[in-house]
Amino acid sequence: MRRPFASVLAVAAAAAVIPLASPAPAATDSVVIGGYPVEISESPWTVALSSRDRFGGTRAGQFCGGVVIGRSTVLTAAHCLGADVLGAPPRQVRDLKVIAGRGDLLANDGKEIPVRDIWVNPDYDGYTNAGDFGVLTLTAPLPESSVIRMAPSGDPAYEPDTAAVVYGWGDTTGGGDYARGLRAARVNVLPDAACGRAYPGSADGAYEAASMLCAGEVAGGRDACQGDSGGPLVAQGRLIGLVSWGSGCGRAGSPGVYTRVSDVVRTLGGGR
Ligand code: ARG
Repeated sequence: MRRPFASVLAVAAAAAVIPLASPAPAATDSVVIGGYPVEISESPWTVALSSRDRFGGTRAGQFCGGVVIGRSTVLTAAHCLGADVLGAPPRQVRDLKVIAGRGDLLANDGKEIPVRDIWVNPDYDGYTNAGDFGVLTLTAPLPESSVIRMAPSGDPAYEPDTAAVVYGWGDTTGGGDYARGLRAARVNVLPDAACGRAYPGSADGAYEAASMLCAGEVAGGRDACQGDSGGPLVAQGRLIGLVSWGSGCGRAGSPGVYTRVSDVVRTLGGGR
């Protein structure tokens, strides 16, 4: 298995009970690492992907994040829908749902909406991690107020040093401490040259500027982590990234790598 999270989840799926509980790579402080709690009303476009069959009920089956980009359309990472993570092809996960409008995974607010259709980017490359996105179509629409706009190519929100926020229910320490409530962390968009130097190519992946962006802090600290995948990176009120991969979490010199949303827009076309 190429990615630690994938193997952790495959083991969890095989055990079919305790999800996400296995040592993850070391990290510094802690979404999300170095993060803070947020209300779901502040980011209504952030959703949890859930399968209690696959991941157990202790965290409502949460295993990845997703983003509402149309009333019935949720964008997530392709690797979240892979057999490595799910332990089976996604269509065989009969209870795959999107949890919307709920920050505390164990609360009862918001909605759990079954998925009607699954599309995984056929160009997703599991070795470099390029093209890490897929689309879920919901069986019922969400309010328009839950939809976030995707930043197209050329949008200033992609410029280096732009302040961005990543959201998720993932590991908050790098040690397998998965959040029950939604968290966020502030990170900065980094120059492609720095991302390329950080990730010239290894077992974790290889940085490719056309389909990825990276964000974090030069000194490490704030970052996404395992379980945040597929969730949003937002800058200037628009979606610029999806949590995709990284080497460890919050490590100096190893920023978080995100699916570049302008590449998603290019692939899907703007209107969804
Ligand atoms: N692949 C991880 C997941 O499936 C996300 C890792 C993000 N890592 C990072 N250091 N930003 O949840």
